[in-house]
Amino acid sequence: MQLTAPLDMHLHLRDGEMLENIAKSSAHTFSGAIIMPNLVPPVSTKEEVVAYKERIMKAVGDETFTPYMTLFFKPSYDKSFLESVKDEITAIKLYPAGITTNSEGGVSGFDVEELRPALTAMAELNIPLCVHGETNGFVMDREAEFVSIYEKLATAFPKLKIIMEHITTKESVQALDKYENLYATITLHHLLITLDDVAGGMLQPHLFCKPIAKRPEDRSALLKVALEAHPKVMFGSDSAPHPRHAKEACGCAAGVFTAPIALQVLAELFEKENASLENLQAFVSDNAHRIYAVTPPKKTIILEKRSFKVPSDYNGVVPMYADEEIAYSIKEVQK
Ligand code: DOR
Ligand code: ZN
Repeated sequence: MQLTAPLDMHLHLRDGEMLENIAKSSAHTFSGAIIMPNLVPPVSTKEEVVAYKERIMKAVGDETFTPYMTLFFKPSYDKSFLESVKDEITAIKLYPAGITTNSEGGVSGFDVEELRPALTAMAELNIPLCVHGETNGFVMDREAEFVSIYEKLATAFPKLKIIMEHITTKESVQALDKYENLYATITLHHLLITLDDVAGGMLQPHLFCKPIAKRPEDRSALLKVALEAHPKVMFGSDSAPHPRHAKEACGCAAGVFTAPIALQVLAELFEKENASLENLQAFVSDNAHRIYAVTPPKKTIILEKRSFKVPSDYNGVVPMYADEEIAYSIKEVQK
C-alpha cells in the first residue's frame, strides 16, 4: 500500500527538548503539517512564528517536511499586521479562552463586531481560520453547543475559510454541508474511540484529550465522512505529546500522542471498514492540498501488512496503542 505526500493538518510539535524529541516522528512519514501555536507564550508575532519555524526545521534535520505555520488568533490583529505576516503563515488558530492546553489568551464571548476587523482582513488576504470549537458548557455538550457559533461566523464572514478542528460530533458533521465555507479536520483517535474507551472502565489517561471522545453515534458520523473522503474533511491528528508524568498524574494533561502510528493505523482502519485506498489518499493528503492550496514536498510512504509492536514510549512520551500490536508497518519512505 502506498500513500503520496501525507499531510497532518493539525499537529502539536511543542518546543525545546520535547520538540527535539518528537519532531521526527511526524517529519519521517508526513510531507507537512499545520503546526499549532499554543506554546507558552503563544505564537502571536511575526518574529515568534519565524523563529519557531527555524527551531522546527532544526529539529526535523534531514527529513523532508514542511511545517505550515499558524499564529494564535487575537481580535487585535489588523490588516497591516496580517499583510506583513501573511507569507510566513498558512492559517490562524482561534482558541476560546481557557478551553484547553495553553489557551488562556484566547477569545471570550464571540462578539461578531469585535471579531469583524480581524476576520474581514483574514478573508480578504485569504488566510484560513482554524477553530477549536468548544463552549465552556458541560463537557459532553461543548462542541455541539459551539455549532451555533460556527454558523454565526460562517454567515457573517462568507469569504473566510473556517476549519472546524478535530470534530467529534454528528452535529459538526451536519454543519459541514450547510455552509460552503466550513471545513473540518478529524483525528485518528476520534475515529477509533468513544468516551467508554477513556472512562468506561479503568481511567485511560493516554486517551484523555480535548474535545473529549463522544458517543458511538458521533464516532459513526465521523467515520462515515472520513471513509468516504468527504471533500471538506482532512486528516488532522491533533497528536499532542505530554511527558508521561503529566499524563499519569492527578490532573492529567489533555492530548493523545499518535504521530508515530497515525498512517499505519489509518491504513488498518480503512482496510477493516472496506474503504478504498483512493479515499485514504484523499483523506490524508489530496483534500488538504485542495482546501489549503498547498503543494507539499514529494514523499511516498510504502506501508506493508506486517504487525508492529508499538513501543511503550518515545523519549518519555506514551503513544496511543503503547505495547500493543498494530497490523501495518512502514516499509519504506521514498523522497
Ligand atoms: O487534547 C488536546 N491537547 N486538545 C487540545 O486542544 C490541545 C492539545 C494540547 O496542546 O495538548
Ligand atoms: Zn490541537
